[in-house]
Amino acid sequence: MAGQSETPMFMSFLFTIIFGLCILNASADLQRFAHPSKHDGSLSFLVLGDWGRRGAYNQSEVAFQMGKVGEKLDIDFVVSTGDNFYDDGMTSEHDKAFEESFTQIYTKKSLQKKWYSVLGNHDYRGDAEAQLSPFLRQIDSRWICLRSFIVESELVEIFFVDTTPFVEEYFTDPGEHKYDWRGISPQKSYITNLLKDLELAMRESTATWKIVVGHHAIRSVGHHGDTRELITQLLPILQANNIDFYMNGHDHCLEHISDTNSPIQFLTSGAGSKAWRGDIDQMNQRGLNFFYDGQGFMSVKLTETDATIHFYDVSGQVLHRLSSSKQLHSPM
Ligand SMILES: *[C@@H]1O[C@H](CO)[C@@H](O)[C@H](O)[C@H]1NC(C)=O
Repeated sequence: MAGQSETPMFMSFLFTIIFGLCILNASADLQRFAHPSKHDGSLSFLVLGDWGRRGAYNQSEVAFQMGKVGEKLDIDFVVSTGDNFYDDGMTSEHDKAFEESFTQIYTKKSLQKKWYSVLGNHDYRGDAEAQLSPFLRQIDSRWICLRSFIVESELVEIFFVDTTPFVEEYFTDPGEHKYDWRGISPQKSYITNLLKDLELAMRESTATWKIVVGHHAIRSVGHHGDTRELITQLLPILQANNIDFYMNGHDHCLEHISDTNSPIQFLTSGAGSKAWRGDIDQMNQRGLNFFYDGQGFMSVKLTETDATIHFYDVSGQVLHRLSSSKQLHSPM
């Protein structure tokens, strides 16, 4: 049994841990954005990927339906899974594509919320730093795009991960494409530091729901399929830290795949414009619940106990839904 004499030692031990965590916290690079929940404690948002084509390929039709669903759910923000501007990202922060593919397309009132965005591989083929520039917020204040960052509310922590630098092929075999690797090289230490920051932030998270957003799929049966580098490097961290959902774009489709080794659900929302690729991986369909080759988007509603996710097509019809529940934690 602990005697009185051991109490000061325990206190100093505790102090060391807390102090240590503060230092670690201070060294972590991931910028945080606090986003309050609604008064009833819920939070809802839309998830869209692979979209910026000046309205073409049904981008405007998807935007219209997002506006309707956004209004119905009274969404708090929008998440973009990347490939924001086709074909080759933005040429500079003055590129008119920003207004023509974003501001003038997502015009509905319900979509006038923060848009939290990551970069996709196509965005890296232009001036990647242009999309990260705070200057864009003077043109459209909704735009929040960083490489990797965290959005947190009382209910949820959303970890946005810059997945393009993980993909070896873009470095070793870029073909005719030029990637803007400013701020990324050396690739190895960029990835190592990012994984370290993510792991620490996830481990410390006390949020009820933990969601990770990236551009590339971990698991996909679509055209690009699984991303090998993410399976080996990112997935183990997600599995070890009780992540509920991994959300991505890259494949121009809608998908729901269950991890076979953990409760993680893989959700692809990369159908913001050009779709109908017409190929599906017949080989690796482990855990596959839903696949849709056409345009659409996803909605997420979170409460303290429930997550409800819907996939919609270009006419706003619900194609697939999933829900997940949690026991309320007893206060510590
Ligand atoms: C737009 O959506 C409709 C309905 O899904 C589809 O039939 C049509 O092919 C789509 N257009 C393009 C260019 O993808």
